[in-house]
Amino acid sequence: MVFLQIKNLKIHYHTKRGINKAVDGVSFELEKGKSIGIVGESGCGKSTFVKGLIRVMSQNATITEGEVLFEEKDLVQLPEKEMRDIRWKELAIIPQAAMDSLNPVYPVLDSFIEILVLKGGMKKKQAVQRAEELFKMVGLDTKRLSYYPHEFSGGMKQRAVIALALALNPKLVIADEPVTALDVIVQSQVLKELRRLKEELGLTLILITHDISVVAQTCESIVVMYAGKIVEKGLANEVLKRPNHPYTMGLANAFPNLQEPNKPLISIEGSPPDLVDPPKGCLFSERCPFRMERCTTEEPLLTEIKPGHFAACHREAEIDDLRERSMEVATWQKVVS
Ligand SMILES: Nc1ncnc2c1ncn2[C@@H]1O[C@H](COP(=O)(O)OP(=O)(O)OP(=O)(O)O)[C@@H](O)[C@H]1O
Ligand SMILES: [Mg+2]
Repeated sequence: MVFLQIKNLKIHYHTKRGINKAVDGVSFELEKGKSIGIVGESGCGKSTFVKGLIRVMSQNATITEGEVLFEEKDLVQLPEKEMRDIRWKELAIIPQAAMDSLNPVYPVLDSFIEILVLKGGMKKKQAVQRAEELFKMVGLDTKRLSYYPHEFSGGMKQRAVIALALALNPKLVIADEPVTALDVIVQSQVLKELRRLKEELGLTLILITHDISVVAQTCESIVVMYAGKIVEKGLANEVLKRPNHPYTMGLANAFPNLQEPNKPLISIEGSPPDLVDPPKGCLFSERCPFRMERCTTEEPLLTEIKPGHFAACHREAEIDDLRERSMEVATWQKVVS
């Protein structure tokens, strides 16, 4: 049985300007105990995807197509009551904004008690014990359970939110940019903590980030998203060593690489397209240093180029050469006119 299987998921926002296809045909699989990183720039649809997965979406969002098979149950079709029963218990989210799970007007302990008593059916005393255990697990002093969220530093708050997500031993943990709001040193501490928990508890993890180097350190597999679509996916080691899509190459250039710390960082000029009125052809073509005529008219399909490694680029045949060129600063200059 495949633990989690996402099939052609589409999530659209209805806006005044028209339909925003924020998630447009996403498919991947995840085995139990494994972790997958979803990477892409701001606005690529990462949060929309995870919110769709747990079905906590904005009013104007609709899942228009696709399946989310979680232990063979399709979460897209599940009645809301059943979905409510499995949130926190079977799948838990570490949200992008910590305040989404810590109630600012109560001490942090109250947020834990709420989940443990209401969702987990524990007695209050038992819940306090579990909260203490969870705080210790993420390296927080149990005294701080009586503090208010605003009395926590950013790093502590993030650890508390991770502890809260783990409260009921969920089978799947989804972390949406768990460290983005933190400074670099605290980022690396919190990530280390997350990696340790993943090993010790055998967590199945979906990690959302815009920083491809975080995926390299944390996940077995990677999905690269651009403008609501997957442009590349496969084993993280393989994809990061030999990226087969220019967007992945660009992301790899834009973040520090542990193996080559002195390599200059190169950013991708421009920004993702307007998803209400996307360009024709390859959605990345406007910013791609390797675009050809065909890229602006015909959309490349996600194709298996090696077992388990998929990419969507018309220039697949020349990809080794393009990868070499992608490492030069000059390649990425003045691409966007
Ligand atoms: N409630 C909403 N109504 C309309 N459009 C939305 C809404 N939320 C997000 N969008 C749009 O959906 C697209 C994807 O946004 P999303 O928040 O999923 O991106 P993201 O990859 O999580 O970005 P970030 O890295 O900034 O968190 C964007 O075009 C965004 O403007
Ligand atoms: Mg987001």
